[in-house]
Amino acid sequence: MFASGDPMPPVSALFPSHADRVRWDDYLTRELLCANDRVARGSVVPTLDMNVLRSQLAEIDFQTPRGLDELLPWTIAQLEHGVVHMTNPRYFGLFNPTPSFPALCGDRLTGAFNPQLATATTSPAAVEIESHVIRAVARRAGLPLEATGHFTSGGSEANYTAVLCALTHANDRFASEGARAFAGPPVFYISRESHLAWVKIGHQAGIGRSAVRQVPTDGRGRMDADALARMIDDDTAAGCVPVLIVATAGTTNAGMIDPVGRCADLARAHGLWFHVDAAWGGAVLVSEQLRGLLAGIERASSITIDAHKWFATTMGCGMFLTRDPAILSSTFQVSTGFMPSNTATVDPYVTTAQWSRRFLGVRLFLSLAAAGWCGYAEHVERSVALIARLRELLAERGWRIANDSALAVLCVEPPPDAADARTLASRVLASGRAWIAVAKYEGRDVIRICLTHGEATMDDIRELTDALTDAC
Ligand SMILES: Cc1ncc(COP(=O)(O)O)c(C=O)c1O
Repeated sequence: MFASGDPMPPVSALFPSHADRVRWDDYLTRELLCANDRVARGSVVPTLDMNVLRSQLAEIDFQTPRGLDELLPWTIAQLEHGVVHMTNPRYFGLFNPTPSFPALCGDRLTGAFNPQLATATTSPAAVEIESHVIRAVARRAGLPLEATGHFTSGGSEANYTAVLCALTHANDRFASEGARAFAGPPVFYISRESHLAWVKIGHQAGIGRSAVRQVPTDGRGRMDADALARMIDDDTAAGCVPVLIVATAGTTNAGMIDPVGRCADLARAHGLWFHVDAAWGGAVLVSEQLRGLLAGIERASSITIDAHKWFATTMGCGMFLTRDPAILSSTFQVSTGFMPSNTATVDPYVTTAQWSRRFLGVRLFLSLAAAGWCGYAEHVERSVALIARLRELLAERGWRIANDSALAVLCVEPPPDAADARTLASRVLASGRAWIAVAKYEGRDVIRICLTHGEATMDDIRELTDALTDAC
């Protein structure tokens, strides 16, 4: 409240009155619900004329302030017509989910309180809530009681954290000397069907893109463990220093699961860090029926699971889990005078790659607490059941099923005499009826259909089947 002694009142465009906030909040709540309903029935792909948008943006030159009464509806319209809609149930895309309602509530709470999670001293409740969720998910994965971890911006940050931990684990001078600490070039192993952000991560971590060894697959999208064993021996003989094996549990293109147990055996035999990238496949841990697919994950040194994929939180919510809290601390430890505390294993700025941190985990906390493991199990199992129905429908119409994943992604090749996968996919996208991707699976172009939208129904499956058939 502005008091008479204050030199200037707060800027009302930035900090409006209570009454104005209530009015705009109510407007947003109502209008966003209506916009989401329209999105669910409308085009999945953008329909906006970008030239119009650019000319309107040119007029918003930040010289003349504009009211939220004008700005909020304008911005909603740009988003409603100017993005691919993950919230449309015919988005069969890249794991980006329609967010759960509790996750949306979490975003709102985080925005309102805007807690700083760099230290537990500043945000004790928020840090405790996050670590409660992390411990629960780690235990669900079968990691030991002392396992720890943290929320990340997504799978890439979690995987980057795994590489830093592996290097720190391999050589305790890595922290101070970097790659120079090693007797030869450090290298690590992924399958060539893995998410290739690993290549960027090799670059980011300072060991170079050539440190990322892409292991051949077995013709069905899974890492060939014999080839992996040979590559480790060859690299060692050539003077390289293997530090990490990554098994992907749910490949991005085809939902295949690498031989986790064999990778764990090899990692143990060679004293390497063993990471399981279960960025989207990790969600099946919630289901008693499906969790056996990830057998061996409990042997991992660390695991990536994204909440912003099949766990249906809003974007920017990954998890890094590890059985080794000490390595995590030595990877990120730093001491400064200005931070209010520095407790190894507790304060997130000394156990994670980030410093200032948003309250990322509240979205999974609210979703998991509201639905329970059993609610999430239904969520995951219904995706798998729907994709099984889609597989049948497409096979009946002559499509060839390329992958044999038990997860919710299908790779299909067009019927004989139809156009190629790329042409068909672009026709479906142009129709706006559904969103699908083209991917390479074992060197072949396939149409990739992923079903992780929690509100998709058989009608959506039929509409996709018709859209694909019409495109032929
Ligand atoms: C297996 C796997 N790992 C890592 C990632 C990267 O995750 P993010 O996009 O959250 O950084 C993805 C993304 O699809 C993925 O499928």
